[in-house]
Amino acid sequence: MNQRIAVTGAFGYSGSRIARRLLKAGHDVLTLTNSSGRDHPLSGQIRAEPFNFDHPDKLARALEGTSVLINTYWVRFDHRRFDHATAVQNTLTLFEAAKRAGVARIIHVSITNPQEGSPLPYFHGKGRLERALRESGIAHTILRPAVLFGDGDILINNIAWALRRLPCFGVFGDGEYKLQPIHVEDFAELAVREATENGNRTIEAIGPETFTYRALAQTVGRIIGCPRPVFSVPPWFGYATGRLVGWWHHDEFITREEVTGLMENRLCVDAPPAGHTKLTEWAALHATSLGRTYASELARRRPAKGNPHTSRRVASK
Ligand SMILES: NC(=O)c1ccc[n+]([C@@H]2O[C@H](COP(=O)([O-])OP(=O)(O)OC[C@H]3O[C@@H](n4cnc5c(N)ncnc54)[C@H](OP(=O)(O)O)[C@@H]3O)[C@@H](O)[C@H]2O)c1
Repeated sequence: MNQRIAVTGAFGYSGSRIARRLLKAGHDVLTLTNSSGRDHPLSGQIRAEPFNFDHPDKLARALEGTSVLINTYWVRFDHRRFDHATAVQNTLTLFEAAKRAGVARIIHVSITNPQEGSPLPYFHGKGRLERALRESGIAHTILRPAVLFGDGDILINNIAWALRRLPCFGVFGDGEYKLQPIHVEDFAELAVREATENGNRTIEAIGPETFTYRALAQTVGRIIGCPRPVFSVPPWFGYATGRLVGWWHHDEFITREEVTGLMENRLCVDAPPAGHTKLTEWAALHATSLGRTYASELARRRPAKGNPHTSRRVASK
């Protein structure tokens, strides 16, 4: 049966893939977004409402008549314009508004190994929100991806970008910590499937291949035709190099907390794969384009020219 389904961030990365699949399945799709006016192929096809985190009544009104909420909303790192503490508070407001609006089910995107007690704000915040959702009484699925890859991703693209430009590649410490990337379309398929399920569950949304960070750099380098020597570097040195790259691109290439999260093996779990697309096969199909341009997180958050309320996805040389 077709339903009204709300997706946060339908003009964003995973949200747009989810929204497309919902539209194709015949659902009535609403998005809550920071980028209502974004020039996006989906913008004419779905109703967009601002998040209105500061006006919970308006947020609840926007969700009235919605049966399922798929929540991708989050911020990647702490920054002077946004931070994890605010994202946690905003998400709690969103859950509360959904409950008041009578939303029957929430599909919430978390991360592998969230932990409320972690000093890392990303993993702490995700742990806090998982608990809040479980305690809310709303039927839910929690999806825990490690890393998303596919057209428009940041991490895998920027590893390839660095491999194309540098004579060698440095991994933080021994580089033996692991990642289990899932293709963004496999992830979207999972989110849409869970939207029409019942009950509560938590799914480790990982792909079929597990790489050490070192092996990931070696594999991507080989596939794109830029095999580079991969060296261990002290984490501070790798982070400092990342700062330099970020400074050059007016971006955050990688944060200290992301390096720590990686090295703590937080992007790896012991669970069966939920996606089927292999990164190695996808990268081989995109070997000529992968990493040609740098993917900037902060450029994606900048308002588009002439519209202070929109932000754009931008890749730069
Ligand atoms: N990407 C990955 O590799 C990865 C890995 C593990 C877990 N996850 C989780 O997967 C979910 C979706 O990730 P995604 O990459 O698809 O996210 P995204 O499209 O970049 O953003 C998802 C939503 O969060 C909002 N948002 C993102 N950054 C923001 C900022 N700095 N300030 C205000 N709003 C911001 C977006 O706003 P707009 O509406 O303006 O677009 C959108 O509504 C997140 O919960 C993330 O934690 C992602």
